[in-house]
Amino acid sequence: MKRLSWLIVAVIVFGCSQTKQAQTYSSGDVEMDRFVGDLLSKMTIEEKIGQLNLLTPGGGILTGSVVNPDVEQKIKAGNVGGLFGVIGVDKIRKAQELAVTQSRLKIPLLFGSDVIHGYKTTFPIPLGLSCSWDIPMIERSARVAANEATADGLNWVFSPMVDIARDPRWGRVAEGAGEDPYLGAAVSAAMVRGYQGTNMAADTTLMACVKHFALYGAAEGGRDYNTTDMSRLQMYEYYFPPYKAAVDAGVGSAMTSFNEIDGIPATGNRWLLTELLRNQWGFKGFVVTDYTAINEMIDHGSGDLQQVSAQALRAGTDMDMVGEGFLKTLKKSLDEKAITEAEITLACRRILEAKYKLGLFQDPYKYTNAQRATREVLSADKRAAAREFAVRSSVLLKNTNQTLPLKKTGTIALIGPLANDKNNMLGTWAVSGDKDLSIPVLTGMKNVAGAGVNIIYSKGANITDDTALAKKANVFGERASIDSLSPARLLSDAVATANRADVIVAVVGEASEMSGEAASRSDINLPGNQTALLEALAKTGKPLVVVMMSGRPLTITREMQLATSFLHVWFQGHEAGNAIADVLFGNYNPSGKLTMSFPYNVGQIPVYYNHKNTGRPQGPGPTQKFRSNYLDVSNDPFLPFGFGLSYTTFTYGDVRLDKTTMQANEQLRVTVPVTNSGRFAGEEVVQLYIHDKVASVTQPVKKLKAFQKIMIRPGESREVVFNLSVEDLKFYNSEFKWVSEPGEFTVMVGGNSRDVKRADFTLRN
Ligand code: NOJ
Repeated sequence: MKRLSWLIVAVIVFGCSQTKQAQTYSSGDVEMDRFVGDLLSKMTIEEKIGQLNLLTPGGGILTGSVVNPDVEQKIKAGNVGGLFGVIGVDKIRKAQELAVTQSRLKIPLLFGSDVIHGYKTTFPIPLGLSCSWDIPMIERSARVAANEATADGLNWVFSPMVDIARDPRWGRVAEGAGEDPYLGAAVSAAMVRGYQGTNMAADTTLMACVKHFALYGAAEGGRDYNTTDMSRLQMYEYYFPPYKAAVDAGVGSAMTSFNEIDGIPATGNRWLLTELLRNQWGFKGFVVTDYTAINEMIDHGSGDLQQVSAQALRAGTDMDMVGEGFLKTLKKSLDEKAITEAEITLACRRILEAKYKLGLFQDPYKYTNAQRATREVLSADKRAAAREFAVRSSVLLKNTNQTLPLKKTGTIALIGPLANDKNNMLGTWAVSGDKDLSIPVLTGMKNVAGAGVNIIYSKGANITDDTALAKKANVFGERASIDSLSPARLLSDAVATANRADVIVAVVGEASEMSGEAASRSDINLPGNQTALLEALAKTGKPLVVVMMSGRPLTITREMQLATSFLHVWFQGHEAGNAIADVLFGNYNPSGKLTMSFPYNVGQIPVYYNHKNTGRPQGPGPTQKFRSNYLDVSNDPFLPFGFGLSYTTFTYGDVRLDKTTMQANEQLRVTVPVTNSGRFAGEEVVQLYIHDKVASVTQPVKKLKAFQKIMIRPGESREVVFNLSVEDLKFYNSEFKWVSEPGEFTVMVGGNSRDVKRADFTLRN
């Protein structure tokens, strides 16, 4: 009897909370609320749980080790909310037909994919794109990718990846925008705008997914999937801004990260997914896990599949990627009252809302127009855009004697394992890109050079002679092949070729899959056999132009010494060869700047520009006892954040302020004259940094707060003006409040984070 009355009370309370939730729920869009509310009222609990599943049928593009069986049956049974790894209008149309003609409620599916740097037309890796510091261009890159992906049937992309990364051992630095929160936030918002446009329901826009929420880039030791552990202040000030920028830009979905945060896996972390993301930041979209991230909570030590699935749902996860933990256990957890129906309904509602916002209920086939696919996929305008994005991602690191740009006369020896290569041009996470459509550097050089140049080629070295490493780089197909000629023979042929030339261009670097997911390295040198090749080429005494490809900063002190000129190009995508040639021959004057510091050696990592001063900062001059420094290496990176040269030179004048005391309601006008003191027209990224000298929470030695990319003609001087407001002087205090404190500040302006001009001012409240 006692048990029965308890049950009755439970039913009444539970029933009331359900009705109350249905009555009080408001997204702010009355039509959508009515539509989704009606649909929910018709759904069984199994159908609601069904919407929470993202499956991959295999056979297409795989990005993890698990695939789901019986996908067709599951779609018909209403057990699937979305699919990924299904590519192309025909396949997507067929799968959509199953959902909208054969499932009881005819709810359309989401179709997602990893469109990370372009779709079928592949652009430079995101780390490369970020080096352009060209926010409108980065937005355009997402827009072009959305155009192509929607034409081919997709309505959802797992991008932008905005994890701040200070550790180049982590292979996934390739996918993000580097180490800085301000630049990272600008890139993040731009990509969301590019993908989603102003109307997600338009035919050419789709839903973005900000990832990996959160702190995935801070994996200990740079080892992928490893633990992260950091203070809340560090999270708020340095790691969260890019995620929050995506939320502020209206991103439709967010993906959880594999790591734990404060000892709780992100996928089951209620503080992260509900209190922070939804309650503090006002996120309105849905949360999807990363690939089998719920199941992985078992290995994290959070419980069995039923327990971790319930924990993930309660934490605020709405959709289960591939793992089927929700599908297999949520009903049981509901019956056992470990979760509520309201929690399931809410997650389902968020997924239905996304489908509504995409316009899928009005037209589930809207992205499956075969004619549009033929017209848009791999179209010439997209290839042209890829070339433009690529040239703007190159970073010139050294240029002695103005060896670059190359003259369009004489003989050029083009040498190196990546000089005539199609297999590595796309870089990591180009799951839909066809590598065979890539332009190798040799082809690009011939295309751009014209008839006056004789280009002779020799491979010179394998990417690596280490067969074990090569095998790991070849997981998705041949990337690092070992040549049938011996390393000694490759080298001697290359030296002979070099001796016949006026100038050598050596194209060296990592294989594309030596960075990316599950591609951490403890040694971030160029493979030793390639350094040996550069040593041998340098000995010829000919000018040596090094072109380096990699998905991460490498330790390149020796290679920089050997090179006469050094161009870092990351992985540039389909148009790599043409774009690299455009820059080498001066059709485009390089303007990229590094967005991650390059260390002298691995022992310096993490090394980043916005570090704290410490109580025992290193003074100028040599290493001192009892200061915070190393016996064997400088505290500074080899190449600082923001660094990059041009074929011209820029000279900075003094920084002028319109006042030395600023009230909190005023703006501070910062002016700096920048002169093009060289011979070529060129673009410069003028960077502004702030230092707050005294604060209740210790502040970094500098933080980027503004930048402008401007074109200046030779001999021309431009007054670059920045207007700072009190917003730019704020930081998170110990209560995690975003505040400014009155006092003294330094403003610094320069062409990189190291070489800056300074001026001081005071903020008064
Ligand atoms: C795992 C990766 O971490 C994530 O970035 C990606 O979107 C998913 N797999 C889906 O491919």
